[in-house]
Amino acid sequence: MRLHPVPLDGPRTLQELQAVAGGTITAEGIGGLAALKLFGDELAPACLSSDHPRFLSFIPCAPTEAAVMFELVLGASGIYAGSWLEGSGAVYAENVALRWIADLAGLPAEAGGVFVPGGTIGNLSALATARWTARARHTASGSTAPRPTRVAAQRGAHSSITSACEVMDAELVGVGVDEHQRLSGDNLRAVLEAQGPQTFFAVVATAGTTNFGIVDDLDSVARVCREYGIWLHVDGAYGGAGLAAPTVRHLFSGIEAADSFIVDPHKWLFAPYDCCALLYREPSLARKANTQRASYLDVLDDGQWNPSEYAIGLTRRARGLPLWFSLATHGTDAYTGAIERTLEVTRFAQAEIARRPYLEALRAADLTVVVFRRHGWEPADYRAWSNEMLREEIAFVVPTSHEGETVARFAIINPTTSEDDITAILDTMA
Ligand SMILES: Cc1ncc(COP(=O)(O)O)c(C=O)c1O
Repeated sequence: MRLHPVPLDGPRTLQELQAVAGGTITAEGIGGLAALKLFGDELAPACLSSDHPRFLSFIPCAPTEAAVMFELVLGASGIYAGSWLEGSGAVYAENVALRWIADLAGLPAEAGGVFVPGGTIGNLSALATARWTARARHTASGSTAPRPTRVAAQRGAHSSITSACEVMDAELVGVGVDEHQRLSGDNLRAVLEAQGPQTFFAVVATAGTTNFGIVDDLDSVARVCREYGIWLHVDGAYGGAGLAAPTVRHLFSGIEAADSFIVDPHKWLFAPYDCCALLYREPSLARKANTQRASYLDVLDDGQWNPSEYAIGLTRRARGLPLWFSLATHGTDAYTGAIERTLEVTRFAQAEIARRPYLEALRAADLTVVVFRRHGWEPADYRAWSNEMLREEIAFVVPTSHEGETVARFAIINPTTSEDDITAILDTMA
């Protein structure tokens, strides 16, 4: 099993794995050494390394060594981080890391939240809080109108927003985008006016769409949300890390007005899975919406900061600690440098695509996602090319589609991805 350089590896079929790994759970046990050998020789190589510099599909994960090391420390510790009573030291450190993110976004001093497993749970928790708050205000106002049941977002918003609305039995209303493919205040206003602003309990703006890395026009969207008194949730699961990068920080102007905001450190902030930072402008609202009540938990109602009270879920590990440890170790300048490096390689990729007559970018990258076509290729050509690159362990770049067209896509969040990696991959498309 190689660790340096990390192997890309590749998938195996169920039959192949059954043949080499067989039945490992037996009445007598196979012993730790045998299980470890089996894992190292057969199972681990059947798992792609998302931290490989040429893993450019979906959104990769490229944790720092410091963060990975601390993940081991965390896993070996019996720390419970759902309540201050049980995990005050860990919760304190997690909150310091959350504060760094809140400051990057320009959220007020009272802002706070919790690290949850991923953007999906972060978005769901934020929207559940938004609905709870809207319902409480609706009740307090004495209104006889129906309670708000809608959420507005652009159509490029992440699939987890659709899931969250389905779970909550809320209606997701898609808003058309502006000429830059962004949700904008004007388009939002038109939809709110057409459908009745009082029927909406939240607007979701995306700060870095998954397919293209587009940042919505947060400034104008925030103004409209404030005007109508609708909760603004910003999904920065992927792109939120750009807040730490001076060359793209201006794209996020307006985020300081968000009522809730998420960013996944397991994406572009170099933490291991599974880690989403969920922040609220007024955490007391989230606490009211999310706190579980049970007699055996009464002792925790002591006015302290209990992370479990700010999201869906009760038992939790201190998943924010690897990020905290890495930030404390390297300092925030190193984070800015690493994020800027990925932006630099993305700009190189764009220039290389523009230079090659057989390739064409679909749009200029806002952040670090580049989507491009190979002239003359059919969907089967993209698939064959992608499969061959994985089979040869050259790279993991799966095709995506845009408006029915199959295209190629790079998501570059790993600071060890180099210009040479990009060139080598693009050469294979010639
Ligand atoms: C913009 C956006 N939101 C939400 C998510 C969901 O995050 P997770 O996969 O951590 O649940 C993603 C994942 O790629 C994303 O890109």
